[in-house]
Amino acid sequence: MWVLGLESSCDDCSAAVVEETAAGPMLRAMAKQSQDHLHGPYGGVVPELAAREHLIQVRNVIREALEKAQLPLEKVDRIAVTQGPGLVGSLLTLFSASKALAWREGIAWVPVHHLLGHLGAARFAVPDLPFRALALLVSGGHTHLYRSEGWTHLELIQKTRDDAAGEAFDKTARMLNLGYPGGPVVDTLAKKAASSAGTFSAPKFRDGKASWSFSGLKTAMKLRIASEPGLEAAGPDDPRVQALCRSLNETVAAWLLKPIPAIAQETGARSLIISGGVACNSELRRQAAALAERLGLRLAIPEPRFCTDNGAMIASAGALLPAAQDPWPINADADLKLQE
Ligand code: KG4
Ligand code: ZN
Repeated sequence: MWVLGLESSCDDCSAAVVEETAAGPMLRAMAKQSQDHLHGPYGGVVPELAAREHLIQVRNVIREALEKAQLPLEKVDRIAVTQGPGLVGSLLTLFSASKALAWREGIAWVPVHHLLGHLGAARFAVPDLPFRALALLVSGGHTHLYRSEGWTHLELIQKTRDDAAGEAFDKTARMLNLGYPGGPVVDTLAKKAASSAGTFSAPKFRDGKASWSFSGLKTAMKLRIASEPGLEAAGPDDPRVQALCRSLNETVAAWLLKPIPAIAQETGARSLIISGGVACNSELRRQAAALAERLGLRLAIPEPRFCTDNGAMIASAGALLPAAQDPWPINADADLKLQE
């Protein structure tokens, strides 16, 4: 089965052609247009600019993916598209285009929850993953841990109380004038660091409920930067900046993985999935590999190009989800909830 997967929930516009085979999903072609240059000067995504740029990119990414795969549109068996959550103007561009294309060509059409897409990305890494899994979905908008009984199922266990982990990277990079998005640059500099500036201790919650919080980490970074004269403008080659990036990497990885051993034991999980943009992080990947080995969990972390938002992950999830009987009344939904 040939699936065209489309993703435009935030600032990435992407289309991918994926062949669903007995051995799992196989990527045949992917096109992705980034908008980092557009949002960089603002230090974060500007929704109106993102939507306008998507309008320009929509046709290009679909055409590029089909051309690279050498697949005419009429050979596509289903079109899968992100329905939400996300920025509504961004979502609507590929969502509306996909409906029109599916209708014109009589192709089955599948709306996909963005987080089921991030989950589906892990099928490219380990298609025969044993379930039950713990799924840590961690990006610029999400830091959520789910229990999953299969590739189309997510049941929330815990989430951040405030910021997503990706924000800690983006905001720290901004405070250090390192550019946007922050995660990749912080990660690169962390790898260059000769030493770490030390890890920050995780917040404790009065109500005792399991969760994460990353807003305090942002403040801790701000205070640390302010306490060292000249650090803010020191730039990427300064060893102190690199050491701080390494400590951010180590801190976020440690915080994210801290609850896993106890929850894996409680739930009887057999595997651990980590996906979303922050799953690109080298230190998180390193610590997760060591932890999974220690706990005897099968680990599925997609390659970085499948971790950040992309059309292939939507195709992978869309291959397993039911096609809509009548696409017409189904709309993009900025706050789309998961059906648990
Ligand atoms: O999944 P994604 O592309 O978009 C959202 O749905 O948010 O994730 C983007 C986030 C950004 O916050 C970015 O800084 C972060 O993922 N990110 C990273 C790395 N690469 C991207 N964070 C840490 N380390 C990385 N290597
Ligand atoms: Zn995402």
